[in-house]
Amino acid sequence: MCGIVGYIGNRDAKEIILDSLQRLEYRGYDSAGIALIDEKNHMVVQKEVGRIDNLRNEVYKYNGEVESQLGIGHTRWATHGRVNEQNAHPHCDSKKRFAIVHNGIIENYQVLRKILTDKGHTFSSETDSEVLVHLIEEFYKEEERNLQSAVVEALKVVEGTYGLAAICIDEPYKIVGARNGSPLVLGIGENEMFIASDVNAIMPYTKNVVYIEDKEVVVIKSEKFKTYTLDYQRIEKSITVVDWDVDAISKGDYETFMLKEIFEQPNAIVDALRGRVHARDGAVKFGGLDLTPEHAKNIDKVIITACGTSWHSALVGKYMIERFAEIPVEVDYASEFRYRNPVLGKNNLVIVISQSGETADTLEALREAKRKGAKVIGITNVIGSTIAKESDGGIYLHAGPEIGVASTKAFLNQLITLAMLAIYIGRLKNMPLYEGERLLEELALIPQKIAEVLEQADKIKEIALKYVHTTNFLYLGRGFNYPIALEGALKLKEISYIHAEGYPAAEMKHGPIALIDENMPVVFIAPKDSLYEKIMSNIEEVKARAGRVIVVTDLDDSVMRQKADDIIYVPSTIEEFSPMINIIPLQLIAYYIARAKELDVDKPRNLAKSVTVE
Ligand code: AGP
Repeated sequence: MCGIVGYIGNRDAKEIILDSLQRLEYRGYDSAGIALIDEKNHMVVQKEVGRIDNLRNEVYKYNGEVESQLGIGHTRWATHGRVNEQNAHPHCDSKKRFAIVHNGIIENYQVLRKILTDKGHTFSSETDSEVLVHLIEEFYKEEERNLQSAVVEALKVVEGTYGLAAICIDEPYKIVGARNGSPLVLGIGENEMFIASDVNAIMPYTKNVVYIEDKEVVVIKSEKFKTYTLDYQRIEKSITVVDWDVDAISKGDYETFMLKEIFEQPNAIVDALRGRVHARDGAVKFGGLDLTPEHAKNIDKVIITACGTSWHSALVGKYMIERFAEIPVEVDYASEFRYRNPVLGKNNLVIVISQSGETADTLEALREAKRKGAKVIGITNVIGSTIAKESDGGIYLHAGPEIGVASTKAFLNQLITLAMLAIYIGRLKNMPLYEGERLLEELALIPQKIAEVLEQADKIKEIALKYVHTTNFLYLGRGFNYPIALEGALKLKEISYIHAEGYPAAEMKHGPIALIDENMPVVFIAPKDSLYEKIMSNIEEVKARAGRVIVVTDLDDSVMRQKADDIIYVPSTIEEFSPMINIIPLQLIAYYIARAKELDVDKPRNLAKSVTVE
């Protein structure tokens, strides 16, 4: 949510910042801006509404000649203040001596703004962030020329969250960064340094990074950096080498990141399974899972908490853990969990799931669970993310970077990870060896089965194109596939802006059936499992009301052929793993409808990849 970058070195700062912002665009893309200190030590600022391409054109049109080796940039996802040039970052003081980019929310900005206005500061935006730069100006001591202390003193009076970078024309050889609740990472190059809210931004330039922690301040010069607490105490930091390769963050031959990520799913699953599944011993092994067999045996309840797509995977996880480990599971929206009084017992296990590992609601739910003394396992994709760090034990998804805002491969890897975890706990409890073997053997076949669904992409596209002009959709599934109905509907909503609802199929008759007419397509997820006949009755109910029926199934059944308008056949697996296969056609349906509507599926309107505000 909002992306920030900074550069200091010998190269053209504007080009590096624009290039890095482009890779961060998935974090927010309603407006963007850049601030450079030029060779005459002037602050050059350019801000534009819209995408980074637009900013790039305008920067080269008006400031193409500017020579600068130091600057900061920002791509915005609006929270406070409309989407316009004034509200875009960087924000400057009125004399344009200081510039800041900020990610997060300053909660007490109204009080601070009033105080600063009374002292004579003139504000030019409606944002909460702008108070930061005025505070820095206020605390800057001319005689000391110490941007770091001005930033620190400013941070001492703000309440809220921040990942920020600040520059000053009187100290044109440093960037000061600070973090509290919004990620910040430093990239170390040769006689050059980078700062960003996300490693993706700087990956082509360096793989050596330092993760800045909450309440830490970093002072960056081209050849060195120093980190401090807010009390000016030095902190030694270690360098992490990021092993993602740059291809992972480019589209390659695909038209969009989302399509690339959908097609990467068989490989992503193989990466998640690698080294963890030992089918012949019926065993799963996790590196970072801090769960002793004694603890696992004593777990009497599991609470899974997450948001959005990750919450849907949590629902599938509930079914799996209850089935394989025979432990009751509750699933909670993280935003609800953190604001009620969750009752946690000493043998409860809390699992938080988050692709980004930075979702504010999920992070706060984790913290609340820990405050209550619960053991927390974090399932995340982004290595070194805050949730990964703050969890007692963790499992990485190993899906690789997910750039498309609508989650696809991370969701799949969440399902596979939850399946492994459920089997792992099950084996520590009552699951017999032969059952562990059977499940793990079946799990190993899932990548190939998904590849077979992907081979049908053209056929699925043909079906999807029939529904491009539809304005409403219903998705129905039962049991393990009820969450898949929710996820299929969410994918369609997110990227095609078509209203869609997911429901447990049997609930249709308790209300949504009133919506059914010839204009309402209903997607049924109908694997040949214990609930197949029941779903068939639900299909009859829709057909009796002239609804249009699209079915995803693994059974070639003549009755179904008569009833359904369109059928997508998928390979069979066991009921418990069928969600992993059934979600693929739903991702593709949403994708092809959105593309036919010429929408930007990688950056759907109003959304951001990681929601680091409440
Ligand atoms: C996924 O398509 C969505 N964009 C969104 O619902 C997402 O799953 C949610 O914001 C949670 O994100 P996280 O997994 O990074 O915590």
